Order: sequence, then C-alpha cells, then structure tokens
Amino acid sequence: MSTPSTDDEAAEYWSTSISRIRPGEIALRGYPIEQLIGRVSFASTIWMMVRGDLPTPGQADLLEAALVAAVDHGPQAPSIASARMAVTCGVGLNNAVATGVNLLGDVHGGAGQQCMTFLAEVLERAADTDVDAAARALVDEYREHGRHIPGFGHRFHPRDPRRDVLVGLVEEARDQGVVSGQALAAGLAVEAVLAEGRSRPVPMNIDGATAIVYSELGFAAEMGRGLFVLSRGVGILAHAWEERQAGVRIKGPVPRSVLPRYTGPELRDVPAGDER
Ligand SMILES: CC(C)(COP(=O)(O)OP(=O)(O)OC[C@H]1O[C@@H](n2cnc3c(N)ncnc32)[C@H](O)[C@@H]1OP(=O)(O)O)[C@@H](O)C(=O)NCCC(=O)NCCS
Repeated sequence: MSTPSTDDEAAEYWSTSISRIRPGEIALRGYPIEQLIGRVSFASTIWMMVRGDLPTPGQADLLEAALVAAVDHGPQAPSIASARMAVTCGVGLNNAVATGVNLLGDVHGGAGQQCMTFLAEVLERAADTDVDAAARALVDEYREHGRHIPGFGHRFHPRDPRRDVLVGLVEEARDQGVVSGQALAAGLAVEAVLAEGRSRPVPMNIDGATAIVYSELGFAAEMGRGLFVLSRGVGILAHAWEERQAGVRIKGPVPRSVLPRYTGPELRDVPAGDER
C-alpha cells in the first residue's frame, strides 16, 4: 500500500465542496464566478454557498424577504448600540461589527435558532396528535419550567410590523407549492396558544417570523442564527459607520450627564488596621 504524499495529505486536509480556486479560476459550487457576477443576486448566492445549489425563484424571494426584514432595529437593539459604542473606542470597523454580532444570542436576535428547534418539535409531536394540541402541550411544558418560548414576545412592538408581511409571503409561497406551510402552521398555533386568556398578547417577533421562513426553506436550526447574523450585520455595519463619521470618542451606554443609580453602601472609611 502506497503512503499518501505530503501534497495529497495537504489537499485532503482542506478539501471542500464549496469553492475551487486555482490560478485564473474561481468556481463556487461549480459555477464560474464570472457567470455569477451580475446574474445571480446576493441572496441567491448566500443560498448557493450554504446549500450547494442555486435556489428556485420562489425560494430566493422568501430568503431575500427574511434577510431584508431583520437588517436593523435601531440603537435600541443591543447588537446595534454595542457596535456603535465599540467604534468610538478606537477599534476598526471589523471589530465594531464583530462586537455587535457577538451579542446575537439566545435572547436577542439569535432566538430564531431555538425557535426553529421548537417548531420542529411541535411538528414532530403533531404526527401523533394535531398541530394545535402539540403546540399547546409544548407551550405548557415551557411555562411549567418558567421558560419563554423563543421567537415570541417583544419589548416595543405590541405587534411586530414585520410579522404580517413575512407570514403573508410564506402563505403565498405555500399556496404556490414553494414550501409546505407546516412550520407556518406550527408558528401560528403557538402564537394562538400564547395569546389565550391574555389582555396583552405575546406576539411573534422577527426571530419567530424568520424562523418560520428558514424552517419552511429547509435550513438547519443553527443556520437560522447564521442567516440572521448576515442580515443584522448590514444594520450593524451601517450604524457603526454612521457613528464613525460622527467622530465621537468613547461613547458610553448613557449620556455623560446621566449617572447610573448607585445601590451599594454609603461612603465609609476603610477600618483602621485593614490597610495593606
Ligand atoms: C423579547 C423578550 C425578552 C421581551 O420581554 P419583555 O417585554 O420584558 O416581556 P416579559 O418577559 O416581561 O414578559 C411579559 C409577559 O409576557 C410573557 N411572555 C413574554 N415573552 C414570552 C415568551 N416568549 N413566551 C411566553 N411568555 C412570554 C411573560 O411570561 C409575561 O407574562 P405575565 O404578564 O403573565 O407575567 C421576551 O419576550 C423573550 O425572552 N422572548 C423570547 C426570546 C426571543 O424571542 N427573543 C427575540 C426578541 S426580538
């Protein structure tokens, strides 16, 4: 048996099905870059890169819609505020964007991933009962453990203005046979259960609405967060750039005139004998 050469070993080490880069050649998933440029949209390129082939027009439209929907939520969003503060501290735009992206966790911006898993579990259970009963049972379990349902609830919006448009587009895509509509049914069932008996409902938020889109499009749950990062990265970059151009230095979380309330002990002397 012949032993592999160092070249073979090195080639195998970074083997990839995504890109073929050689002198004078750049091909992505087999498509020459010169055919992609100017012909394939950015959203379709994202799909092609992470899924392996180009989307159908219907799939591309839905992905595009979800990516547009989540680009920004203003400086009220910690991801945006933190990037704006970061850029005033003398770091580069890349660091500022990374700071914002790093805050997209389970509770802010990253809940789509958990929501996709949640919706998948509703659908799995619905196989033995129906989607409404499955949604009710899972919501009850979460409530028993005092857990919030990911993708639902919002600090500002009684009804998120992005919800109806995205839900409408998924309904259209379902009617045209682009997607199955199962994740949508699960999401709507969860929303209905959460609203029961409450004067202030717990509305579907952007993470929930995009989780439905990404689930319908067949993305893995973890990719839901990845796609949200790409989308929100646009807003983070725009805000970091605006702050950079304003030229502010060291912008803190509150205006300088505002002093956070101190809740510790009153001023006191260090006890004699405790000096070091
Ligand atoms: C986004 C979020 C932090 C907003 O929280 P908030 O406005 O401070 O709301 P509260 O946590 O104070 O909840 C207010 C009420 O709604 C309920 N509620 C809010 N979000 C809920 C959720 N996701 N699931 C179940 N109940 C929820 C609370 O139980 C509470 O009920 P009560 O009035 O009977 O006590 C919260 O809804 C949440 O954690 N959602 C899940 C994570 C998520 O999707 N994040 C993405 C946000 S875009």
